[in-house]
Amino acid sequence: SFLGIDLGTSGLRALLVDEGGVPVGSTEWHYAAAHPKSGWSEQDPADWIAALEGAVANLRAAHPEFARLKGIGIAGHMHGATLLDETDTVIRPCILWNDTRSEAEAARLDATDRVRELSGNIVFPGFTAPKLEWVRAHEPAHFARIRKVLLPAAYLNLYLTGDYVSDMSDGAGTSWLDTGRREWSDYLLEQGHMRRDQMPRIVEGADRAGTLRADLARKWGVGGDVAVAGGAGDNAAAACGIGALDEGQGFVSLGTSGVIVAARQGYTPAPETAVHTFCHAVPNRWYQMGVMLSATDSLNWLSGIVGAKPADLTAALGDDPVAPGKARFLPYLSGERTPHNDAVIRGGFTGLGTDTTRDDMTRAVLEGVAFALRDNFDALTATGARFDGLIAIGGGTRSLYWLRMIATVLGVPLHLPAGGEFGAALGAARLAICAATGADPQEVMEGPALGRQIDPVAELRAPFEDGYARFRAAYPLIRQAQ
Ligand code: XUL
Repeated sequence: SFLGIDLGTSGLRALLVDEGGVPVGSTEWHYAAAHPKSGWSEQDPADWIAALEGAVANLRAAHPEFARLKGIGIAGHMHGATLLDETDTVIRPCILWNDTRSEAEAARLDATDRVRELSGNIVFPGFTAPKLEWVRAHEPAHFARIRKVLLPAAYLNLYLTGDYVSDMSDGAGTSWLDTGRREWSDYLLEQGHMRRDQMPRIVEGADRAGTLRADLARKWGVGGDVAVAGGAGDNAAAACGIGALDEGQGFVSLGTSGVIVAARQGYTPAPETAVHTFCHAVPNRWYQMGVMLSATDSLNWLSGIVGAKPADLTAALGDDPVAPGKARFLPYLSGERTPHNDAVIRGGFTGLGTDTTRDDMTRAVLEGVAFALRDNFDALTATGARFDGLIAIGGGTRSLYWLRMIATVLGVPLHLPAGGEFGAALGAARLAICAATGADPQEVMEGPALGRQIDPVAELRAPFEDGYARFRAAYPLIRQAQ
């Protein structure tokens, strides 16, 4: 059997799969993030270890297959800085991806010559390099003690193998990696006042990073040669779980935020559009990702304001979208990432009249999110990405009305998985299979069985194009008005 771990922000999910990669069982352990100040977000890495041990104990008890474990893969929330001293003691709580304290340091690094060019990305405050600059400025005693910096997944790799090793899909989120060459960049490290010897060894996610420590193997009742894969950042692992490795393959996630991921065979960064370009977890592949920050979050917000459940709001619209009306919504409730990279902008309704109804406002919210996804889609296709179709996942896919509208606005069919597993934990388990058996990732990382296909509504293409043009025009005006 093989074990895939998704080390998430709110908990750790462990998935056991059999020799053929078919899920056998899973378990989840929760932990919290601490927010000691506004904008801060931290976790104690000891909580991850406790969750991992708890999850393993559950799986062992429930599934005899666990005793025949051959490989483990870890997917982790990205960008976190776990600082270790001489004795591998954690120096301070891990600063997480959604921590914004290092805004000033990020802006400085982002404006530094060649940083975007080599890292392929804007230096966002959530990324790792600016966090270390913040520690250097505000906690110099901690900074002086740092012998290694590990991303969350790499910290679990250390626990499992005793070795400092990270994969490059996660490494690409640090702003220390030359993302095109898939190796640490001495220049980028220098700009961030870090040294190469403070970095873990870097390997491909599907390669074998090491072997499970003998004492852990004994404790867990497994054999002596359990392979540990390089692992992945959670988004790359999710792409492995959904089978998105090649050009044309990708997915749209309608969660709190809306994300479009495109698998890429080449390296075509476009930091100016705030598209993320990271190494994939398999060799010679990259992926690109656009993020709009408030997707189901926008609908949930409206739901709170009008006092009706999101599902009731969308149900009132039926299943068939209609052309955009006068009421419009800009979904910038928490600012926007792609394409505006604008933390300050806030959303708005326009075109309201005395005749505007609750349904009009719901429709406008769904349209605003669809148009923001179109911004992401266009930013990705401008880099050469193409989409034969998009697999749609996340809570927002429960509304057929919304799916039809999004298919129409993007101009591609959406495919819904028929069910089952397709997330980051499955992707991590698949990396474990590759690392342990030497199997070809292309063969292991299949797409999920697909259910319903949602096609663009041909007669609505033109009115939605028109609506999108107006949406585009509104951003600079709203920006100016705020
Ligand atoms: C990616 C990012 C998040 C975390 C969430 O850039 O910050 O998706 O990886 O776990």
